[in-house]
Amino acid sequence: MAYESLSDWVERLDREGELLRILEPARVELEIAAAADQESKSAHGGKALLFEKPVDSSGEPYAFPVLINGYGSARRMAMALGREKLEEIAGEVSALVKAKPPAGIGEAWDLLKKGLDLRHARPVSVGRGACQDVVHRAEDGGKGLGEIPVLKNWPNDGGPFLTLPQVITEDPETNERNVGMYRMQILGPWEAALHWQLHKVGARHGKKYREMGKPMPMAVALGGDPANAFAATAPLPDGIDEFMFAGFLRKKSVAFVPAVSQPIQVPADADFVIEGTVDPVGDLVNEGPFGDHTGFYTPVDKYPRFRATAITHRKNAIYPATVVGKPPMEDFWLGSASVKIFLPVLKMNFPELVDLALPAEGVFHNMVFVSLKKQYPYQAFKLMHGLWGAGQMMFTKMIVAVDEQVNVHDTSEVLFYMGANMDPERDMIFIKGPSDSLDHATTLPNSGSHVGIDATKKLPGEGYHRGWPEECQTTSEAAVRAKELLAMAKKTK
Ligand SMILES: Cc1cc2nc3c(=O)[nH]c(=O)nc-3n(C[C@H](O)[C@H](O)[C@H](O)COP(=O)(O)O)c2cc1C
Repeated sequence: MAYESLSDWVERLDREGELLRILEPARVELEIAAAADQESKSAHGGKALLFEKPVDSSGEPYAFPVLINGYGSARRMAMALGREKLEEIAGEVSALVKAKPPAGIGEAWDLLKKGLDLRHARPVSVGRGACQDVVHRAEDGGKGLGEIPVLKNWPNDGGPFLTLPQVITEDPETNERNVGMYRMQILGPWEAALHWQLHKVGARHGKKYREMGKPMPMAVALGGDPANAFAATAPLPDGIDEFMFAGFLRKKSVAFVPAVSQPIQVPADADFVIEGTVDPVGDLVNEGPFGDHTGFYTPVDKYPRFRATAITHRKNAIYPATVVGKPPMEDFWLGSASVKIFLPVLKMNFPELVDLALPAEGVFHNMVFVSLKKQYPYQAFKLMHGLWGAGQMMFTKMIVAVDEQVNVHDTSEVLFYMGANMDPERDMIFIKGPSDSLDHATTLPNSGSHVGIDATKKLPGEGYHRGWPEECQTTSEAAVRAKELLAMAKKTK
């Protein structure tokens, strides 16, 4: 099911009892983020929050409401993508790549791309877009980005940040589009700093423009169908258009209109579109500090300056935002959705892989739990190396491998087997590789070490000859009787 706009999505959230409306004035500085932080830590991720009266630090109201924690639960994440459960999408992806078993991960992605094409998920052009109901041009001056209730989330943040932007760029050689979610720090009415990390596709496009000495046209969409922003977070490889993926998710092509001030196409359904350029030649600015996914502040670093040339929006636009920090938060649900949806692609390449989880405590890249059906010695290590070679999985600091019957979504269960089944010297491997730009623990930025922990039952070929012990488990009859006895027991005091 496709949503027309964020307000369409908000109405659905309301109907389903998934929305809390906050009618009191709330400050965009700290207050809205603090409320979302508390709500996201309540049972099952709490509710989505719509702040109807956001105000600035002097109490001046904004014209647009703020939606936050919209993706923040398993149910809302599935609803955002128009399904009852995310497993339905995993099944659809699986059907696409199973048509012809791929020889490698690259081929699996190629199959997915072809499958998406066949599903008529390709973006379409339309004459008019609600995203351009109202047009403000930089040359006319005005408050520009100051019209939007952009949040400052944490006390030491360097300023307000766009936290759910769909950053749209094109490869100058192939014209292939990329959409990535890269936060943007507001520097002035028409300026922002663009935090695309070193390894991301947008940064690669930017580098090409820099080498060509050409300014890079860019557009930032906010809102529209919630599938669009999710697609911008998805770890799709270069060459798969995230909007085509969004079209597949929502079962309806994303419609595009030409931007009003840049030679680039923008999604017609967006709530806001910020158009502009990135100046390629040495125009780097200080970005940060920013209270990050890691639960720590990412310090100030140099990133490109974005100059806005126009801001367009719907008449009834809603501003979408999120807050990241100590888990669990809304980003956990976005990340988990990607894992669920792309698991079939990974399974195609690693037939031993049974299940995979990124526990909330691992804030995306710190920890992966993976279960496998082990048939031969060192297969757990083979799988770890494969995963470290698979796209953004390269950032994973720790991989813990367990046997197929272990529930990787139960952290306590994984930790039990990790403690019980592992001889540290024999069962751990250390490798070097690229690391997440946000990782503050590595000696150098962007590179570090990774550890793989094999917590599976060991085979003789892995040097274990003592005879693996049996796990303690009572009989099913005794378990049933025990339940009855406990149910009948009476409190004596
Ligand atoms: C809420 C949220 C904020 C994010 N912010 C950033 C960011 O500021 N910079 C960045 O490089 N990646 C960020 N990411 C991760 C990217 O969106 C993700 O790696 C995506 O797959 C990148 O797309 P790309 O492969 O097209 O570059 C964020 C993800 C989420 C869920």
